[in-house]
Amino acid sequence: LDGLPYFKDLNQQDLDELSTLFMERKYERGVDVFQEYGEGNELFFIQSGAVKIYRTDDSREIILAILGFGDLFGEMAVLQEQYPRSASAKTMEPSTFFVLKRHDFLSLINKSPQIAIRILQAALDRLRRANEFITDLTTLDARTRIARGLLRLTEKHGLRKEGGIAIDIRLTHQQIADLTGTVRETVTKVLLDMQLQEAITITKKKIIILDIGKLEQLAGAFN
Ligand code: CMP
Repeated sequence: LDGLPYFKDLNQQDLDELSTLFMERKYERGVDVFQEYGEGNELFFIQSGAVKIYRTDDSREIILAILGFGDLFGEMAVLQEQYPRSASAKTMEPSTFFVLKRHDFLSLINKSPQIAIRILQAALDRLRRANEFITDLTTLDARTRIARGLLRLTEKHGLRKEGGIAIDIRLTHQQIADLTGTVRETVTKVLLDMQLQEAITITKKKIIILDIGKLEQLAGAFN
């Protein structure tokens, strides 16, 4: 537990006490953790792995976020008891979570304002991102959105390697399209272009950023 950013200010005694409330749960890759509209009584801290947060609309999937180490999910239905799960969650890699029940979560944030503030900050981060994405959808072309999407994935899931930064999740072109609000054919075209420009390369289904400066340039000015 003490590796997780949410709990970094706690002393050993608090951590020991807290760890008795958490259940550790391990999932294989590609497993549904929960479904949109289901009842939600527990929340999840990601100890390792990656989780896709998504909604489905008839045939299409919209990926809201790909979460990784240190992130929290499932807090919305837990804090807003009147609502069901606002999205589905599925593992994209083998993952380990620390799971907390509603009742224990409420007593935790009652006891620790620091943790409550961190959770609020994380929720506001999501709102900020969602606002940016809405703006991007209406003002930017798909090519630029894809470049921005890759940059965000690099921030969150980047693994420094010789010659570049690997995005440490296997992503299909369809998933990148679902994440950036475009279609698979466009992603295929744009990724090919990026490879020709030597901004990225793809090995074993993972994208490696070779030239982050070039990718930033393709993503337009960041603010
Ligand atoms: P909950 O509604 O309980 O179940 C789905 C979870 O997905 C939700 O809680 C949040 O933890 C998470 N979630 C929803 N929307 C987003 C988003 N835009 N970005 C990241 N995570 C989200």
